[in-house]
Amino acid sequence: MPSDREGGDFIHYILFTLKIMNYRKILISSLFVNASLLSVSAQTLKDAYRDYWYTGVSVNQWEVAAQQNAKNEHDVTGFVGADQTADWAVVEKNFNAVVAENCMKAEVIHPQEGVYDFTLADQFVEKSLAAGMRVHGHVLIWHSQCPYWFHHDANGKLVSKEVLKKRMKEHITTIMAHYKGRVSSWDVVNEAFEDDGSFRNSLFYQILGEDFIPLAFQYAREADPTAELYYNDFSMNKPAKVDGVCKFFRPLIDKGLPIDAIGMQGHMILEDGAQEIISQYDYSIKAIASLGVKTFFSELDLSVLPNPYGFSGANVSDRFAYRPEVDPYKDGVPADKQAEIDQFWVDFYKMLITHKEDIIRLNYWCVNDGNSWKNDFPIRGRHDYATLVDRNNQMKPVVQRIIELVQPQRSKQEKAKKAKKK
Ligand code: XIL
Repeated sequence: MPSDREGGDFIHYILFTLKIMNYRKILISSLFVNASLLSVSAQTLKDAYRDYWYTGVSVNQWEVAAQQNAKNEHDVTGFVGADQTADWAVVEKNFNAVVAENCMKAEVIHPQEGVYDFTLADQFVEKSLAAGMRVHGHVLIWHSQCPYWFHHDANGKLVSKEVLKKRMKEHITTIMAHYKGRVSSWDVVNEAFEDDGSFRNSLFYQILGEDFIPLAFQYAREADPTAELYYNDFSMNKPAKVDGVCKFFRPLIDKGLPIDAIGMQGHMILEDGAQEIISQYDYSIKAIASLGVKTFFSELDLSVLPNPYGFSGANVSDRFAYRPEVDPYKDGVPADKQAEIDQFWVDFYKMLITHKEDIIRLNYWCVNDGNSWKNDFPIRGRHDYATLVDRNNQMKPVVQRIIELVQPQRSKQEKAKKAKKK
């Protein structure tokens, strides 16, 4: 039996233990509460939408590596990058898929017949895979940023059907074999149609007619049967265009064309009208899904600048002259304009959420407003606000609203707290 002293000590000990346990309980539960609050407020776009689709972004070569080699500056808008590796942290934190903005295009990766330069693309793929991201390949067959040699012979004449088929096959097979098992999906053909739904008169089309499309998909499936294969185009909000694309693909898909998805670039212009853009894309998603394939947005951005030319495409060779009137937000976007932009993104996401089952990926084009191609296209030297990340690499406040569309815990908790206080 313990003595009094010992008994007292014993009771003390029990009380002390209970106290500690209590403290621990308080500590643990407060840690728990804090952690859950933290995890809610630290929620990112990629995490919030993990069960919906991949949330991706394009990266340029200077974000991947601090490359300053003049020979390796690849950007037809004339934008010359400096070290932007600081952007990479934003990419890793907020996105779970990536695509190269330029370095996998034919002019970079296959500049001369039989000569491949994988330097930049390898750096991009390795860095992205090391960060655990899904890598999408952009692009195999595209009339733009495609070197002269591809369609011409030594005398400058257009090559024959057979020669072009051989070149396409060799190009697709070599690139896809190089990235087999590392690049999960490819834009096999990009921008083959005009905005009215007719065929673009590209050199691929001039030489091979519409056959160049199914041929490209056939070569791609043979090259890597595990990769997903996509068709991709801009202005896909325009009913005439999406109808033309669907009309072409429907019979091919019915006959077994190896294609997994038809994608929409999604270069949007606020002046075209927020509700109109949203309802047009709602229609386009349904039209594509009716073919029995998935869809995605490959190059999302929203230009908020005036569009005095009625321009609404993304044809990279289109250019207009700079005038100060068309660059009104050099010092920032006024509050009412910002509210309009934010509301657009929220309403756009609300529409997309209703199509969750049909969408594979929402990919943004360019990491932040500062390095967005929209500052230089279709007019050079403007100040656009086309992305969800500001010029200081901060996610814009609207991102939290987008997150709360599918993760409403935080606002619920806050409302509950407010209600308690009343
Ligand atoms: C753009 C890049 O963002 C620019 O840096 C480059 O100068 C031109 O091309 N459709 C596409 C993309 O499929 O590859 C284009 O990217 C934008 C339009």
